[in-house]
Amino acid sequence: MSDKVLLVFGGDGQLGRALAKATAPTGWAIVTLSRAAADITNADQVARAIGAHEPAVVVNAAAYTAVDKAESDSDAAFRINETGAGIVAKAASDAQATVIHLSTDYVFDGQASRPWREDDPIAPLGVYGASKAGGEDAVREAARRHVILRTSWVFGIDRNNFVKTMLRFGAERPALKVVADQVGRPTSAHDLADAILAIAGKLGGGVSTAKLYGTFHFANQGAVSWYEFAREIFAQSAQRGGPSPDLAAIPTSDYPTPAKRPAYSVLDCDKLAGLYGIEPRPWQAALADVLDRLLPKA
Ligand SMILES: NC(=O)c1ccc[n+]([C@@H]2O[C@H](COP(=O)([O-])OP(=O)(O)OC[C@H]3O[C@@H](n4cnc5c(N)ncnc54)[C@H](OP(=O)(O)O)[C@@H]3O)[C@@H](O)[C@H]2O)c1
Repeated sequence: MSDKVLLVFGGDGQLGRALAKATAPTGWAIVTLSRAAADITNADQVARAIGAHEPAVVVNAAAYTAVDKAESDSDAAFRINETGAGIVAKAASDAQATVIHLSTDYVFDGQASRPWREDDPIAPLGVYGASKAGGEDAVREAARRHVILRTSWVFGIDRNNFVKTMLRFGAERPALKVVADQVGRPTSAHDLADAILAIAGKLGGGVSTAKLYGTFHFANQGAVSWYEFAREIFAQSAQRGGPSPDLAAIPTSDYPTPAKRPAYSVLDCDKLAGLYGIEPRPWQAALADVLDRLLPKA
């Protein structure tokens, strides 16, 4: 019997590349498509790709992720994050495939005193969050069999992320200032990829029930500020002979950006643990694995 296909749009992004590097479970093949191979805003290209690969599960890892640029580029953000999300979900649904769609903690406004649950009211603060919220609705509308997976503060081996930026700045400058009043859950792109494969395995196993569909959260365990995240990055970097600059904690008001960010962005991941048995590990352990690759010991 041939392998079931997990087809990934946005295959050249941080998560897409982590999925390409992940070990496929027995009986599965992972196929990733870059933007050049399939543009999610082009319904014909998406339908052709799904027709060619006949996936059991489609993952939409494609997104407009430039949070600050989105503030002045709203049309593109909505075209990709909302319209494109709907196109992928509809094409997957038409082909009887389940769609796993990635979304973000930025759909929330950050004004909470306990971790955000899946059914808490959303209230995005900026264009990126609003476009991702629009994408969630488009997916719910287009595909009954969907999993919307919100995640946060993603870092991995590939592409741009906070860990790589810190290491670069840390190698260039003796001291860095990092925001200490935004709190969230750092998440390894590689742990996220494994969670997606576990979800796909369960849904593609033929015994899926209605409660396995819907909206879920996945993030590594533990909540920290960007400043505390940076401290751990450089503590682990120092152990590997990497950069270790002085760090100063600053308030968000000292680091103005075009897009407003949620102050408290901690996702509650209990629903995924309860229904899928997926228990995220602490972010520090996930960071160690990534730093082992980015800063190999001499
Ligand atoms: N990164 C985070 O911290 C974070 C946090 C929460 C949620 N998320 C969500 O997680 C998902 C994956 O994010 P990521 O970190 O992997 O982002 P990423 O590294 O920016 O990757 C996104 C990929 O989507 C591609 N893309 C953009 N427009 C496209 C289109 N029209 N058609 C096909 N591909 C297109 C990009 O292509 P190019 O290579 O040409 O740019 C890029 O390869 C996204 O849904 C994002 O919203 C990310």
